[in-house]
Amino acid sequence: MIFVTGSTGLVGSHLLLELVRKGRNVRALKRPGSSPDEVKKVFSYYENEDGAEELFSRIEWVEGVLPCTDEIFAHLEDVEEIYHCAAMVSFNQKDRQKMMEVNIGGTESMLQLALEKKVKKFCFVSSVAAIGPMNGNEPVSEASFWKKTRNVSGYSVSKFKSEMEIWRAGAEGLNTVIVNPSVILGPGNWYRGAGRMFSTVEKGMPFYTSGITGFVDVRDVVNLMIILMDRNIFGQRFILNSENLPFKDIFSMIAKNLGKKSPYIKAGRLLTSVGWRMDYLGSKVFGRQNLITKETVKASLSKKYYSNKKITEALNWNFIPVAKSIEDVCKIYNNELKVQDFS
Ligand SMILES: NC(=O)c1ccc[n+]([C@@H]2O[C@H](COP(=O)([O-])OP(=O)(O)OC[C@H]3O[C@@H](n4cnc5c(N)ncnc54)[C@H](OP(=O)(O)O)[C@@H]3O)[C@@H](O)[C@H]2O)c1
Repeated sequence: MIFVTGSTGLVGSHLLLELVRKGRNVRALKRPGSSPDEVKKVFSYYENEDGAEELFSRIEWVEGVLPCTDEIFAHLEDVEEIYHCAAMVSFNQKDRQKMMEVNIGGTESMLQLALEKKVKKFCFVSSVAAIGPMNGNEPVSEASFWKKTRNVSGYSVSKFKSEMEIWRAGAEGLNTVIVNPSVILGPGNWYRGAGRMFSTVEKGMPFYTSGITGFVDVRDVVNLMIILMDRNIFGQRFILNSENLPFKDIFSMIAKNLGKKSPYIKAGRLLTSVGWRMDYLGSKVFGRQNLITKETVKASLSKKYYSNKKITEALNWNFIPVAKSIEDVCKIYNNELKVQDFS
């Protein structure tokens, strides 16, 4: 039996699809209140209605919230492998404390349960945010040791400290492997994570920033996680990154595929710093969640390159090109819009 956390998210839902397609027995953790229908919707992007329904029906759903409680311990009976994908991803200062609890505390408790239940394998989804910074012009590699700098985000701290827990459990005898994806491109929730890039461009986005970062297709992420676990490759971490590209190129590709105008106004430091302050003010006045934060602005202006040499050489892997990922995601996005228009 395989246990998956974060199963209603972008990575978790695609991982469930690949695992059930392979005929594996899967138990998926979801929080009370979050809907597995989101997962069925993701299955329907890749399978016809009957196929999606049939694959979805093979999943055993259980409920729980991280950090773990006794109820999750009970769900680990007969579990041999754990894929730990659940995390809180936020760049809002007010979420910092909660994010530390969910990400570090959640990982620590999953590892503790895995050790107690003598689980055989544990795959942890970390992030490139837990690695780096760049050394001169050298792209960030698995050997680039994370440093706490003034600009580091709370999310980055939480992923780095979670990795520390993984190494500790590895030293205690658990077979662990870590993947460090860059920005993950895939269809699912259009208002969460990278999915928001598609809905934002679709609504019309004139601005672009000068930043550069890595991007990877969610299908590559989940397939590589399964291969690493199946081949018993443990005690290591792997950057999962297809290409490093400027945000301007990414947004232009999305705009082209959605039939929208490409961003044409460069937002420099001044404009972006005014932008996040205005957004913060708006969130206070109107009581809504602020979308642009000081941390997201910093990320959108920084230029970071990530090396995928280790994984491509280890597994002889060819990543899906970013242009193809964007084309595929936009096709799904456009279809969904059409369905909404007719309903
Ligand atoms: N997306 C990216 O670009 C990216 C890049 C690098 C690394 N990552 C990492 O990849 C992993 C998966 O990310 P994702 O994009 O799939 O995120 P996501 O779509 O936001 O999904 C997060 C998942 O975690 C669950 N979760 C959140 N808090 C929880 C809690 N307290 N207890 C139990 N479950 C909880 C969510 O459940 P609900 O549905 O109930 O909210 C959801 O299933 C994360 O570890 C993230 O740090 C993501």
